[in-house]
Amino acid sequence: MTVILEVLHLKPDHTLLLTELFSRIAADPLSNRFHPHPFTATEADRICHYGGRDRYLALRIDDQLSAYCMLRGWDEGFSVPSLGIYVAPELRGSGAARLMMQHLHLTARLSGAERIRLKVYADNLSAYKLYASLGYCFSDPADNTGQLVGIFDLSRSALMRSGTVTGRDGCSSVHTLLSESAVEDDPSSANRL
Ligand SMILES: CC(C)(COP(=O)(O)OP(=O)(O)OC[C@H]1O[C@@H](n2cnc3c(N)ncnc32)[C@H](O)[C@@H]1OP(=O)(O)O)[C@@H](O)C(=O)NCCC(=O)NCCS
Repeated sequence: MTVILEVLHLKPDHTLLLTELFSRIAADPLSNRFHPHPFTATEADRICHYGGRDRYLALRIDDQLSAYCMLRGWDEGFSVPSLGIYVAPELRGSGAARLMMQHLHLTARLSGAERIRLKVYADNLSAYKLYASLGYCFSDPADNTGQLVGIFDLSRSALMRSGTVTGRDGCSSVHTLLSESAVEDDPSSANRL
């Protein structure tokens, strides 16, 4: 069997495929853990025609999109982008989430970001474990929505470390990093992932 696997930067040609994925996300009970924006045909169209600095990506396997992810906040003036990721149920546990995370890390680094931030519900164990294993450092305790703030340091040493260590190693400075980005923490904007 020949499989064609492609990481896409979403463009107008992908509108139909993204609309199909968004309708699957909207019907997925786990989408209450991932709510960066509504998952409607209108949003799929907007994202596929978007031309700013933020990044909207998908993993295409043959003729279907099976993962959707983003780095956003740059257009609003934040220097630390917020990351969001969704992997379709049939692909979970396959390594696709890790592949897309690494792709986003490199994209952010090459775009000049020094850190990435994300929010994760404390009981979203698969997401939390994935992020922790990549080297994200988390705020403790959760905020008033039950979400932890995770910070990933994109410095060369942190990128190398994320391939080899797990857990909270190297996270001693997380509170400093969080306080540095606190001025950028606008709950009404990009950081609600
Ligand atoms: C979060 C998400 C992207 C993770 O993708 P995934 O393919 O499920 O991730 P993995 O299968 O690689 O699992 C990551 C880790 O969590 C563990 N894990 C998976 N499901 C788990 C569960 N129910 N309970 C505990 N641990 C779990 C895995 O063992 C793995 O740990 P390991 O690397 O030590 O083996 C995916 O589950 C998803 O799209 N969820 C819905 C949207 C969402 O929650 N997005 C994140 C918002 S912050």
